[in-house]
Amino acid sequence: MRRTRLHVHLQILYYPSMAFDFKLQCPFCFFLFFLLLLYTTTAQSYSKISLGLSFVAQDDNLVWRASRSGDFAVGFRKIGMDGLLLSIWFDKIPEKTVVWSANRNDPVEKGSIVELTTDGNLVVKDQKGRQIWSPISADTGISYAALLDTGNLVLASQDNTILWQSFENPTDTLLPTQTMKLDTQVIAHYTETNYSSGRYKFMLQRDGNLLLYTTNFPFNDAVAPYWLTQDSIGTGFQVIFNQSGAIYLAAGNGTLLNTVFPALESTPTQDFYTRATVDYDGVLRQYAYPKSTVATSGGRWPKAWTALSFQPSNICKRIC
Ligand SMILES: *[C@@H]1O[C@H](CO)[C@@H](O)[C@H](O)[C@H]1NC(C)=O
Ligand SMILES: *[C@@H]1O[C@H](CO)[C@@H](O)[C@H](O)[C@H]1NC(C)=O
Ligand SMILES: *[C@@H]1O[C@H](CO)[C@@H](O)[C@H](O)[C@H]1NC(C)=O
Repeated sequence: MRRTRLHVHLQILYYPSMAFDFKLQCPFCFFLFFLLLLYTTTAQSYSKISLGLSFVAQDDNLVWRASRSGDFAVGFRKIGMDGLLLSIWFDKIPEKTVVWSANRNDPVEKGSIVELTTDGNLVVKDQKGRQIWSPISADTGISYAALLDTGNLVLASQDNTILWQSFENPTDTLLPTQTMKLDTQVIAHYTETNYSSGRYKFMLQRDGNLLLYTTNFPFNDAVAPYWLTQDSIGTGFQVIFNQSGAIYLAAGNGTLLNTVFPALESTPTQDFYTRATVDYDGVLRQYAYPKSTVATSGGRWPKAWTALSFQPSNICKRIC
């Protein structure tokens, strides 16, 4: 498992020496220093969800905890007739577009529960108390969960080591700053309104090749490729969705091997929400949605997801 640290304590490390100076100069400053410390620790870019918290899925979608920016929220989303999925979505747009779901093949009903158990496990239980989903086993040392501003739901240990993250377990969507390691797949929804894993997938194979495949639905096995990168077998290492909105296949040394989508020059990620989704029709599309009203030469950007680029460029030549 890849272990990443959350950099929470970075700022705090600066202050002890300052405190020392303050103490020498004035007693009150020491008090001020503590206020400052309190401020910097609460000004982290996320809020922690503590062990023992649980929420019951209601009629309405229940927001568990939004990240600090408020751009994303986690909670139950109603899918189809009465199925609910523990999901992450863009919370500041009316569409509340879902970017990730936990129990995507197994929706639960009203009265189901999501819980961060006291023994350190994240679980979804149906109304009968049966465990429907859990990303890892109990007792792996999880001490809190957090939804980061990037839309990444993480489970971390006391020392802020990330033990599990939604960014490493994508469903049908990738977000800026997300990467795909070898042997990672992004699987389309079955239909527009059925979020079960569907008939197409985007996959970075263990051999370094990056492809779009049809699957043997309802299973997820790869059947026929309909788009692929050339010459990346043995060199392809990870797919990077960077801050500029570019999505590319990189080698282990960081060299760009293949561009899936170029950087977003006219829709910079600070002004536009951005995502790349394998849609249920098998097309991998990159979308942008203005965060606020954005003027263009011809008027305004529509307040909607606009597909900017897609792969393959003509799907009907491939699989129609
Ligand atoms: C989605 O489609 C699958 C496969 O046909 C089906 O088993 C499942 O019940 C559907 N889910 C919903 C929420 O309609
Ligand atoms: C980086 O890796 C690629 C693919 O293995 C290789 O072609 C290239 O020469 C390497 N570049 C550097 C600077 O090591
Ligand atoms: C993102 O990738 C593109 C294409 O490789 C590159 O031009 C751009 O500088 C990168 N931006 C960042 C912030 O890394």
